Amino acid sequence: MKIVIVGAGRIAWHLGKRLKSKGIPVTQIISRTAVHAEILAESLNTPWSDSPADVLPDADWIIIAVRDDAIEDVAEAFAPFVQNALVTHTSGGTAGAVLAPHFERYGVFYPLQSFSLEHTPVWSKIPFCVDAQSEEDVLFLKKIAKTIGNLVYRVNDEQRALLHVAAVFANNFANRCFAIAEKILDEKDLPFELLHPLMEETLAKALQDSPARMQTGPAMRGDVDTVRRHLDLLAENPAWQEIYRELSENINPDLRV
Ligand SMILES: NC(=O)c1ccc[n+]([C@@H]2O[C@H](COP(=O)([O-])OP(=O)(O)OC[C@H]3O[C@@H](n4cnc5c(N)ncnc54)[C@H](OP(=O)(O)O)[C@@H]3O)[C@@H](O)[C@H]2O)c1
Repeated sequence: MKIVIVGAGRIAWHLGKRLKSKGIPVTQIISRTAVHAEILAESLNTPWSDSPADVLPDADWIIIAVRDDAIEDVAEAFAPFVQNALVTHTSGGTAGAVLAPHFERYGVFYPLQSFSLEHTPVWSKIPFCVDAQSEEDVLFLKKIAKTIGNLVYRVNDEQRALLHVAAVFANNFANRCFAIAEKILDEKDLPFELLHPLMEETLAKALQDSPARMQTGPAMRGDVDTVRRHLDLLAENPAWQEIYRELSENINPDLRV
């Protein structure tokens, strides 16, 4: 099987390495910045190019792993050179349908995890959301995802768009709250480690049961005096105050502060 990865960023690196380690080597790397393509290709011991025109004419699977807002342009640039390959992107927030005008066989291969270059992903825990036009291609993507990841779900464009919104709440927004908490402690010379056990317990309970049922805190209890005191303490930072108020009222719509 001939696999081409387009892009040389975080997903390209991690996916390329993981595929290789599972005996499914990538056959070619193509990325717009030659030096980035070359470094990744060297680490995977595979040929590279910076030009869509060089894409292997007999490629079986082309994985577009570029920034979301570049996927359509990249698809358009590759279209004249792609013959019968299945072309997928890896984006949670982009419809698979953006590939439809350019390729007969297209789909999505979305690993639902946050990847960074510094951390080795725990692949055995990563769920994949896949989709494609034909059952055969869906089966193919599911098989690869099972080999390199964990659970695999077939998720259509409409479902994935909202799944991505949910992921932003669960990851990006939750992390932003951690960051605010860290800054609040830092301003009073307190170490962030103080909150680690609480954070761990929050996550453990949310995973064990419905997070809605696990909600605690002054807003949930309707403890208006405490909520007001906290808002006063945040007076010097109106943005954090606003987040605190919004979330408190969202947790308990009867709360009047
Ligand atoms: N990182 C994650 O946590 C994660 C998780 C799941 C899915 N995804 C999805 O995976 C895809 C890639 O994300 P990533 O995190 O790997 O991004 P990244 O690390 O920022 O890498 C982006 C890649 O896209 C290339 N690129 C950017 N603009 C381009 C353009 N206009 N034309 C051609 N190539 C362009 C970059 O090339 P240069 O090297 O030349 O800059 C780079 O190789 C995205 O669709 C993202 O939504 C990411």
